[in-house]
Amino acid sequence: IAEEERPNETSCDYFNGKWVRDRRGPLYNGTTCGIIKEGQNCISHGRPDIGYLYWRWKPTRCNLPRFKPQSFIQLFKHKHLSFVGDSLARNQLESLLCMLATVSTPNLVYSNGEENKFRRWHFDSHNITVSLYWSPFLVKGIEKSSARLNNELFLDLVDEKWARDLNQMDLMVLSIGHWFLLPAVYYEGGSVLGCHYCPGLNHTEIEFYDMLRKALRTTLKSIIERSGVRGSDGKDGIKVIVTTFPPAHFEGEWDKAGACPKTEPFKEEEKELEGMNADIRKVEVEEVEAAKANYNENFGRVLKLEALDVTKLALMRPDGHPGPYMYPFPFANGAKDRVQNDCVHWCLPGPIDTWNEIFLQIINKWNENEPFVS
Ligand SMILES: *[C@@H]1O[C@H](CO)[C@@H](O)[C@H](O)[C@H]1NC(C)=O
Ligand SMILES: *[C@@H]1O[C@H](CO)[C@@H](O)[C@H](O)[C@H]1NC(C)=O
Ligand SMILES: *[C@@H]1O[C@H](CO)[C@@H](O)[C@H](O)[C@H]1NC(C)=O
Ligand SMILES: *[C@@H]1O[C@H](CO)[C@@H](O)[C@H](O)[C@H]1NC(C)=O
Repeated sequence: IAEEERPNETSCDYFNGKWVRDRRGPLYNGTTCGIIKEGQNCISHGRPDIGYLYWRWKPTRCNLPRFKPQSFIQLFKHKHLSFVGDSLARNQLESLLCMLATVSTPNLVYSNGEENKFRRWHFDSHNITVSLYWSPFLVKGIEKSSARLNNELFLDLVDEKWARDLNQMDLMVLSIGHWFLLPAVYYEGGSVLGCHYCPGLNHTEIEFYDMLRKALRTTLKSIIERSGVRGSDGKDGIKVIVTTFPPAHFEGEWDKAGACPKTEPFKEEEKELEGMNADIRKVEVEEVEAAKANYNENFGRVLKLEALDVTKLALMRPDGHPGPYMYPFPFANGAKDRVQNDCVHWCLPGPIDTWNEIFLQIINKWNENEPFVS
């Protein structure tokens, strides 16, 4: 193996580093992968600059190996992998499927819900199932809509839309965050705890950070308790990855032509992880660590649970969003004053592919200690 491909597992912190230019480019493109949601298929929507495709993440003390679809697919033989969360969970799942599709075909075997919020694919070649569950709070909730001014969250109850299928899952990737910024009323134990940004209602204003913390705590506790039972049946326990909050990059007004107009990553000294992005990430990382400590104490087995801590590396990529190219050819009829921009999701291919490269390294590391293959 070439020197740059060799990971240094013992010392590698994949989450701190910098983006460096890389002429190899992505493993797939919007033409070859048919799974990309329209709004993220930036090249086919006419995004003119493609420099954002030619960067790789360089952890400070080691190298991140390029994603190997063949290795991933071998590791997940006969397994069920599920992505649960909001549209960023979907974004990450589509990136993974596009990379895997270069070596094996994912067949869509189930699809349900508005905008296909629940989907399932099967790789016949290796008997791998990959599922997507829409659950933007992970706990039970009612989403804000045109008819409803605020979200309603039930912080002590998990969302059974995914939880009822837990016993079929081998590995879960959880990804939430952005929906917690919206106005919400919070319930716990059947009564109102308070609300976030709902001046019309007569409830105590509470910050959403603690509510995100409660939602994650309830979620991880439920997964552990329900799969702990499964572990004692002699079957493998469940493995869980929590993708941390990927920051958005709106500059100025969201409906101006280029609301995230940058075409290159930030340089190291240009951007600090701070404020809300840092605080959301902190809650997520702390809850993952707390769940691990709690589980290891009480169950006497090692829980495979890790934060996929992408916040910093995502923060440095203001150039990776669709911006106005969420819609096809937004400037086809000349410059416009007001266009909608997406500075939250990520173009595919794009920086989000790197999250799955690190995801594979986490699995590799787990697998060294305790083989994951059936
Ligand atoms: C791994 O990294 C550590 C710390 O940077 C270094 O001392 C060690 O030589 C490295 N090992 C390999 C195999 O590169
Ligand atoms: C996408 O990939 C295919 C196959 O490798 C190639 O023929 C095509 O030119 C690529 N399209 C773009 C836009 O890069
Ligand atoms: C495919 O994998 C599932 C577990 O995800 C397993 O229950 C089933 O027996 C496997 N099927 C075959 C044909 O090996
Ligand atoms: C708001 O709540 C407080 C405390 O529960 C109550 O005393 C007050 O009457 C309420 N006001 C309105 C307008 O409902």
